[in-house]
Amino acid sequence: MNSYGKDYWDFTEYRDKKALIKYPAMMVAPMQEQLLLDILEFDPDIKNILDPFAGSGTVLAAGNNLNLNTYGIDINPLAILISRVKLEGVPEENIRESIAQLKTYITLFLGNTDLFEFTNIRKWFREDIIADLSILRKAIICEKNKQIRRFFWVCFADTIRKYSNTRSTTFKLHVKEKEKIETMDNDCIQYFVNKVSTLYIDYIKETDKTNINLFTGNSLEILKNFSDNSIDLICTSPPYGDNHTTVTYGQYSILPLLWIDLNDLDEFDVTMLEKFTAIDRMSLGGHYNLEQFEVEIVYNDLIKEISEKKAKKVVYFINDYCKVFEELARILKKGKRLVLTLGNRRVDNHEFPFDILNDRLANRYGLIEEAKLTRNIQGKRMPVKVSNIPNLGSVKSMSKEYIKIYRKN
Ligand SMILES: C[S@@+](CC[C@H](N)C(=O)[O-])C[C@H]1O[C@@H](n2cnc3c(N)ncnc32)[C@H](O)[C@@H]1O
Repeated sequence: MNSYGKDYWDFTEYRDKKALIKYPAMMVAPMQEQLLLDILEFDPDIKNILDPFAGSGTVLAAGNNLNLNTYGIDINPLAILISRVKLEGVPEENIRESIAQLKTYITLFLGNTDLFEFTNIRKWFREDIIADLSILRKAIICEKNKQIRRFFWVCFADTIRKYSNTRSTTFKLHVKEKEKIETMDNDCIQYFVNKVSTLYIDYIKETDKTNINLFTGNSLEILKNFSDNSIDLICTSPPYGDNHTTVTYGQYSILPLLWIDLNDLDEFDVTMLEKFTAIDRMSLGGHYNLEQFEVEIVYNDLIKEISEKKAKKVVYFINDYCKVFEELARILKKGKRLVLTLGNRRVDNHEFPFDILNDRLANRYGLIEEAKLTRNIQGKRMPVKVSNIPNLGSVKSMSKEYIKIYRKN
């Protein structure tokens, strides 16, 4: 894997112009596919794959294309919706007719649809945009096929992010300047219809749904239901523990989640929708669970440079992450692999060596490192400047990440 040459794993040529929807820290799909192909060539005896932090389902979609039985977990219901659409696709026999009907409904509902409401909706959307999104929402609900509705919802979610009053330069919710809001063009109906009409073709699939296992919830809990030595390959990019500050998966997803019909999402704890910060708080490292807290002596040296307040957050994240790692090591079959794509974020302008932490955990749970690949992070998957620290100025986010391959002994 290292022999491909310098920068091979960057996949610089790749630009996903036709992305169904953007998701924070989204993995580059062809890179992930190549990675799986290489691993399968080396070990053809892989039947199933697990991504415990599935996000928008890039790894799982690659696994599904290679006919693997897929298992995916994410705490964010929007992530699981996107993953479902990528894996299950839309049925060929109905999709064209459904799109034609969708357009008819939109025309029919123009000018005579009640405005959709939720608390503070006018802070996040302009009145005319609320009117148009309400029409789209009503038209999507008229579709009879759930798989197709879900595809429409994901296109709708992307439309919602684009036409909301939030800034596009950050994953956090930040209202744009008044002038920018007032001058924003409203062609959201056209945007949505175009998206649906051009992308559906890539999602036509005949899938065996019994091979698709997706769970909305906390990995820490859900992994407990997996048997020991049951998984052939675990491949994931874990969160970095900055879900409150930088890569706020939950905040990024909350506006779409408030609009989408909950009946079409997998079951989840709806208290997540009560506060914009709730999903991120429930995510790995986002909550302080004092009862379960135990300082891990082995990691103390990794955090000693960081200010006390931030160190506490890092320690909580590590504490959660260690437990997930232990579960992953338990359910992985002997001789099989754990593949992690991860980066070393900066906390208080000190690099937090997440790669070293993973090496120590691997060592502790009987996994050996087989490979470490380095790749430069392209484009806008991560904001370039992420935070400001007194006296130190702005802090750059990471530009490099590692793909680490461990094998269970
Ligand atoms: C780096 S992202 C994965 C991105 C993914 N590789 C993609 O291509 O879209 C990490 C994911 O972990 C999820 N996550 C964070 N804490 C979690 C937890 N405790 N249980 C399950 N998922 C969690 C986040 O919602 C986020 O989607």
